[in-house]
Amino acid sequence: MVDIAVIPGDGIGKEIIPKVCEMLSTIDSSIDFTYYDISSERYLDKGITITDGEIEDLKSYKSILFGAIGDFSVKPGIMEQGVVLKLRKELDLYMNTRPAISFKAITGNNINMTILRENKEDFYSDISGNFNEHKTFNKSDGFYNYNVDINIKSDDQIYYTMGFLSRKNLKRFFRSAYKIAGSENITVTDKANAVPMYSLWREIAMEEAEPFKREIAFEYADSLAYNMVRNPKKYSYVIAPNLYGDILSDMASSLTGGLGYAPSGNIGDKNSMFEPVHGSAPDIAGKNIANPVASIRSSIMMLKHINQTETASIIEKSLENVIGEGIIPVESGGNAGTHEFIEKVKNQCSLLKNEI
Ligand code: IPM
Ligand code: MN
Repeated sequence: MVDIAVIPGDGIGKEIIPKVCEMLSTIDSSIDFTYYDISSERYLDKGITITDGEIEDLKSYKSILFGAIGDFSVKPGIMEQGVVLKLRKELDLYMNTRPAISFKAITGNNINMTILRENKEDFYSDISGNFNEHKTFNKSDGFYNYNVDINIKSDDQIYYTMGFLSRKNLKRFFRSAYKIAGSENITVTDKANAVPMYSLWREIAMEEAEPFKREIAFEYADSLAYNMVRNPKKYSYVIAPNLYGDILSDMASSLTGGLGYAPSGNIGDKNSMFEPVHGSAPDIAGKNIANPVASIRSSIMMLKHINQTETASIIEKSLENVIGEGIIPVESGGNAGTHEFIEKVKNQCSLLKNEI
């Protein structure tokens, strides 16, 4: 059996993910899904985001399929930092791959690029606080130990969040990024002209490119944002620090149909977690209008990652066929609701499976 942990989460995650898993089960009976109720609802009820026991448990699965988390009734940041970001850090998922690939039938273009986002460091740091409180941070994440003592007085209210980059983490990140990009063109982005810590980012980007004998283009994140909109075909792989990668991947998805089409994979050496880039969208949840393509694509990425390649290609082909036949999600002006769309893909999968 292939053991997969499923965290539907909140909002449209809850609406879409179980249906996608049902679809996967009909094509591949060797996949076993274990559901975890890690959600805003549980947080409101029990005050728990995610427990240490759950994190340990989740480490034992072949992979994790994640929906989305966050709800209007919980203060912004609690579930996001307490669950998604925590999982990325605790499971050591240092690489985030975010393909932005258009379906010609939907966007009329054929843009195909992937953002490779560093997934643990940068300004996604818990060294954060108010200048007027004396704070001491002592932490080790297996790669670096830090010992930070902050005691700055100010008569104004000043909040800080310290950005971090570490050599060891960046070395493995770039090595993995160059492996993923293969011979495609690569653009590395940063703001080394304004933020000093990105000089380390650049240094290691160049160092790690050496053994691959690769030409790497560097482009500042602001200029990249500009050119990505004007000339998206120029890019195949964009390698970005955590925060810029977050922003650029939403932008890239807007060029390729919208967030409803954008999947992602959080990948480490031992564990992996796949999730749509979109959030829980509580405003449209439960209305049968959310686009399930991002979750379907995330499941395809997951299957490829765990070497269930045959199942992955059946779903991939089915998705293309269904859209090719003019079954268009509501997000793109069509009338295929969430459940109908998944049903069509599922039926198409059964047809293709019988042909094999
Ligand atoms: C994403 C999300 C998360 C992030 C949030 C929910 C913390 O926007 O996965 O892109 O910033 O990484
Ligand atoms: Mn984001």
